Amino acid sequence: MSQPFAGKVALVTGGNSGIGKATAVLFAQQGARVVIAARRAEEGEATVAEIKRNGGEAIFVRTDVAVAADAEAVVKRTVAEYGTLDCAFNNAGVSGGGLLHELTEADWDRMIDVNLKGVWLGMKYQIIQMLTQGGGAIVNDSSVAGLTGYVRSTHYAASKHGVVGLTKSAALQYRDQGIRINAVCPGMIMTPMIERAFAIPGVEDWFRSKVPGRGGNPDEVAQAVTWLCSAAASYLTGVALPVDGGLSSGL
Ligand SMILES: NC(=O)c1ccc[n+]([C@@H]2O[C@H](COP(=O)([O-])OP(=O)(O)OC[C@H]3O[C@@H](n4cnc5c(N)ncnc54)[C@H](OP(=O)(O)O)[C@@H]3O)[C@@H](O)[C@H]2O)c1
Repeated sequence: MSQPFAGKVALVTGGNSGIGKATAVLFAQQGARVVIAARRAEEGEATVAEIKRNGGEAIFVRTDVAVAADAEAVVKRTVAEYGTLDCAFNNAGVSGGGLLHELTEADWDRMIDVNLKGVWLGMKYQIIQMLTQGGGAIVNDSSVAGLTGYVRSTHYAASKHGVVGLTKSAALQYRDQGIRINAVCPGMIMTPMIERAFAIPGVEDWFRSKVPGRGGNPDEVAQAVTWLCSAAASYLTGVALPVDGGLSSGL
């Protein structure tokens, strides 16, 4: 495999599962030294071991993306370990359904804290570091539910629309400092998150009736993320790229 990230350092939040894990593995295959940030250490260390078995380099740093001190600490640890931070994928997220009037304040706060505040905190400390280096590339994980309404979940859709707004606005703020900031908007991707949703009666049938063709593989999102971070995408910033097999293209 070609090594566009040889000598580079990539940070992946939620890198111990699903889309984040596939991206961490792909970054390593493409030559990056990888920092995996998430809460569950066992899954994180297992991903590090998998990367090392395949000749790559990685560390796991236990991180809650919704906690400012953690978001700052993982960037500091990255730089202490590997000297720089070239690419970041702010991917960690949670999901959940329910009618708006039945949501609790705790439901709302958890969704927004992880999916939206977590991306802002991640970018904040990543950008502080990237400004000192003179550049970098960030990709944030939104969703098709960040581009259209989502009847299953208002608070998930609100958080993911927020990620698109954050991405586009930050891309403008840091364009002239050499920091490119884009988002991916995955459709139905076969990960533990979607498997948990499918366990709820009726949900799998609902998804399959809405999604054209098959569900996506985590690696198909990872390919888009690493490409957006690579020099091949040097003129792209502020883009919210659907990776959805056509789901958001229309009926
Ligand atoms: N699968 C889909 O169909 C789909 C579609 C559109 C968008 N997405 C987005 O893709 C992203 C990844 O989801 P996935 O499908 O790969 O699901 P997943 O396998 O459940 O992965 C979610 C990841 O987020 C991490 N995470 C959750 N809360 C966290 C927190 N507070 N701090 C740090 N890490 C946290 C989890 O690790 P720990 O639990 O160990 O912390 C895990 O690594 C999410 O943002 C999701 O909204 C997924």
